[in-house]
Amino acid sequence: MKALILAGGKGTRLRPITFSMAKQLVPVANKPVLFYGLEAIADAGIREVGMIVGDTAAEIERAVGDGSRWGVQVTYIPQPEPLGLAHAVLTAEPYLRDEPFLMYLGDNLVTSSLQPLVQAFQQRQPNALILLAEVPNPQEFGVAELEGERVVRLIEKPQQPPSNLALVGVYLFDKHIFEAARAIKPSWRGELEITDAIQYLIDHGYTVESQQITGWWKDTGSLDALLEANRLVLEDLQPSQQGTLEETTLYGRVAIGEGSLLRRCTVRGPAIIGANCHLEDCYIGAFTAIGDGVRLVSCEIEYSIVLEGSCVESVETRIEGSLLGKNAVVRGGARRPRTLRLMLGDSSLVETP
Ligand code: DAU
Repeated sequence: MKALILAGGKGTRLRPITFSMAKQLVPVANKPVLFYGLEAIADAGIREVGMIVGDTAAEIERAVGDGSRWGVQVTYIPQPEPLGLAHAVLTAEPYLRDEPFLMYLGDNLVTSSLQPLVQAFQQRQPNALILLAEVPNPQEFGVAELEGERVVRLIEKPQQPPSNLALVGVYLFDKHIFEAARAIKPSWRGELEITDAIQYLIDHGYTVESQQITGWWKDTGSLDALLEANRLVLEDLQPSQQGTLEETTLYGRVAIGEGSLLRRCTVRGPAIIGANCHLEDCYIGAFTAIGDGVRLVSCEIEYSIVLEGSCVESVETRIEGSLLGKNAVVRGGARRPRTLRLMLGDSSLVETP
């Protein structure tokens, strides 16, 4: 069985971060989201991976390479425009051919093993097997309506969701999905929806099975979901200490990378600090991920993600629930009048909760 990872698309909900980087490469606990998917696929015993790429193809290829790091063989499949998940499937048809395949959305993060799902698909051989998860905000996803165990209806981002069961970004299909993707029309958002293609399978008498996910799942396409994913991954953090600590106290599980210096800091885990960081007179609170080469001086950060090369200095207010892009600078001062001086990229967000 082959896998198809979707790593194209636009990432509009994570702007401005996604103006300069692929949303699938935004790190969760200091590791790109996409790498968790590659690990899960390799773990399920799949060796051939097709990777749909769009505008950010070069960056994705640089990060993933030929896949040998995960023991898989990655073939890049350019999608000229992000015209929808079902369009991505059609774009990959010459690569996938008649074989069944596992489709994985590159911005999704699942913790449970994909192996039982692959096995169930191979044993029972339905035409499609979908994964479902209960969510508090079903209107933001594809939603399934069940009658008993049977999937009867799927709707993409419904205003009035018929259930709280969201479609998780992991699907198993046989070749009939190509017929379905060819038959459907673009949705109100102008995309060929995979949800509509699966509905076509249901309507034309094909078997569509569903399984409810065990463990947790996150679509990391928005800031809140990304921070939640970061928290959940950090819940399982293994502590490690390769940096230098001076008058610094660590509480709970903390990982510190090589070449990092922490002076007069308090770190309350779970928290991860990358390599070659300089932290002085700071408080790092739980569920924080600090990338490589970050400089933090006289500040407090909690429940946040700070990307590599960023700098926060002399900021009195605690920074919380935030995502700082690569090489971002936040610098405070004590001078009066107390003003804010900003140079923000398009679609940036500054707010006081
Ligand atoms: O996360 C689960 C949800 O993913 C499902 O519940 C929905 O039914 C499904 O339609 C999808 O919704 P999103 O609106 O979140 O999909 P998004 O546009 O974020 O795309 C998902 C991944 O696929 C992402 O890594 C980008 C990639 N993509 C997207 C499009 C539209 C492509 O590679 N090509 C595309 O044309």
